Amino acid sequence: MSGLEHSVMQNSIAHKVIPSEKTLPLIGQTLSMMRDPIGYIRRRYNRDGEVFRSSLYGADFIQLIGPDANQFVLQNKGSIFSNAGGWEFFIGRFFTRGIMLLDFDEHRWHRQIMQAAFTKKALASYLSDMNPAITRGMSHWSPSNNFKVLPHIKKMTLDIATEVFMGEKLGKEANEINQAFVVTVRAGTALIRHPVPGLLWHKGLKSRARLERFFRDRIQQKRQQPGNDLFSQLCLAKTDDGESFSDDDIVNHMIFLLMAAHDTTTITLCSLLYQLAKHPEWQNKARQESLALGHESVGVDDLEQLSTLGLCMKEALRMIAPVPGMPRKTVKDCEFKGYLIPKGSLVNVFNDFTHHMPECWTRPEHFDPERFAAPRQEHKNHPYQYIPFGGGAHMCIGLHFAEMQVKAIVHQMLQHYRWQLADGYTMPVDYRSLPVPFDGLPVRLSKL
Ligand code: HEM
Repeated sequence: MSGLEHSVMQNSIAHKVIPSEKTLPLIGQTLSMMRDPIGYIRRRYNRDGEVFRSSLYGADFIQLIGPDANQFVLQNKGSIFSNAGGWEFFIGRFFTRGIMLLDFDEHRWHRQIMQAAFTKKALASYLSDMNPAITRGMSHWSPSNNFKVLPHIKKMTLDIATEVFMGEKLGKEANEINQAFVVTVRAGTALIRHPVPGLLWHKGLKSRARLERFFRDRIQQKRQQPGNDLFSQLCLAKTDDGESFSDDDIVNHMIFLLMAAHDTTTITLCSLLYQLAKHPEWQNKARQESLALGHESVGVDDLEQLSTLGLCMKEALRMIAPVPGMPRKTVKDCEFKGYLIPKGSLVNVFNDFTHHMPECWTRPEHFDPERFAAPRQEHKNHPYQYIPFGGGAHMCIGLHFAEMQVKAIVHQMLQHYRWQLADGYTMPVDYRSLPVPFDGLPVRLSKL
C-alpha cells in the first residue's frame, strides 16, 4: 500500500498520512537536494504527489509542491505560516530581524516604513546613480577567451548596491565586505550548525559581526548628513505616528537588504547572460533593441522599451529561480488537500520546481522567452505558477529594483560586448546555497 492510501483519524476527520522515505540520520535527503534539487523533488512528486516529507539539514520538512500549494502558503489566509519560523532555521543567526524574518503586524509595520525607499521617485534616483557605476565597473573588463562572468558580476552588483544603497564607494574595504556577505549567506546551509572554529557556521557568525560594525559605524553620520541613498531613507523614515527605525533596525535591515539585492541579481544576471550566449539569436535581438534606443544608459522611461530583454529576463528567472524555495513554520494546525499539517511544522514551497513542471509549461527545459508574451502568456495559467519573487505579504520589495538593475547592466554590455560559450558547454549549477555557476561561467568576451 502506498503512503497516499494510508489514512489516520484526527479530530474525527480522516487525513492522509504524509509520505516519507527511509534515509540516513542527520544527512537525510540534504545531499540529493544539494546535487539536483529539481530531480529530487520530481522523483518524490511523481511517487508521492503534492505533499511529502523530506529530512533536510537535520530537520523534518513538509514539502508542499505545485501552484496550488504555493498559493496556499504564500497567500497565507488565516495567518498560518510564519516566515520567521521558516527562515530562522536557515539564516536566522546571520540575518537577524531582517524584514523577511518578521511576521504579521510587526512585519507590516516595518514593510510600510521600508516601502518609502522603493517608490518610483526613489528608484529613478537609484538608477541615475547606478548607470555611471556600471560604466565604471565595465571599463575594467578586458576581452578574454576565459572571462568568468560570476566574479565580475558579483563585484559589480555589490559595488552598485553599496553605492546606491549607502551613497559611498567601498574602496579597499570592498573585498573584505564582499567576502563577509558570501560567507554569511553560505553559512545558512551549513551541515554542521554549531559554531565550531574553522567551520562554516562559525565563519558566518564572525562575518555577521563584521557587517554589523560596518553599518553601525556609519549610522550617526547618515542621520546628520542624509543623502538620496537607501541607508539615509531608512534613517529618516517615520510612520504617520512619528515612529521610526531604531539603530538596531537599521543595521538589521541594511544587512538583509544588501544581501537580498546583491546575490539574487547576480544569479539572475549569470542565468540571463548564459542563456543569451547559448542563444545568440536572442542576444542579437536584444542588442538591436538596445542600439535602437540610442541612449548609452537607460532611464526609467526606457525600461519598458527593452522588451526582448524583459522577456529573456523572465525566462532566465524561470529556468533558475535565484531564491529556489521558501520555508515557513506553521503557527496553527492546517489542512491541505486532505493532509493535516500540525502546528510547529517546517514546510517548504519550491518555486524552482513549479517553474519546471510540464503541467504548467510547454517544454519547460527549453529557453523560450516568447512563452511570456501575448498571446501565449503561459505564466498566467495559474496565479502562483510563476513566482520568482514570491507572493503575498512577503513578496519581494525589490522586484522593480532588480529588473531595473539587470536591464541597466545588460543594456550597457550589449552595446559594447559580445559573449559566447565554448562548443557544447552547459553551465553547471552549484545548489549548496543560492544557485550559482560552479565554474564561474567562463565565456569568450569580445568587443563589438
Ligand atoms: C532578481 C532578483 C531577486 C529575486 C529573484 C528575489 C526574490 C525574492 C523572493 C522569492 C522573496 C520572498 C521570500 C519569501 O517569501 O520567503 C524576496 C523577498 C525580499 N526581497 Fe527580493 N529578490 C530579488 C531582488 C531583490 C532586490 C534587488 C532587493 C532590494 C533592493 C530585494 C529585497 C527583498 C526584501 C527586502 C524581501 C523581503 C520582503 C518581506 O519580507 O516583506 N530583493 N525576494
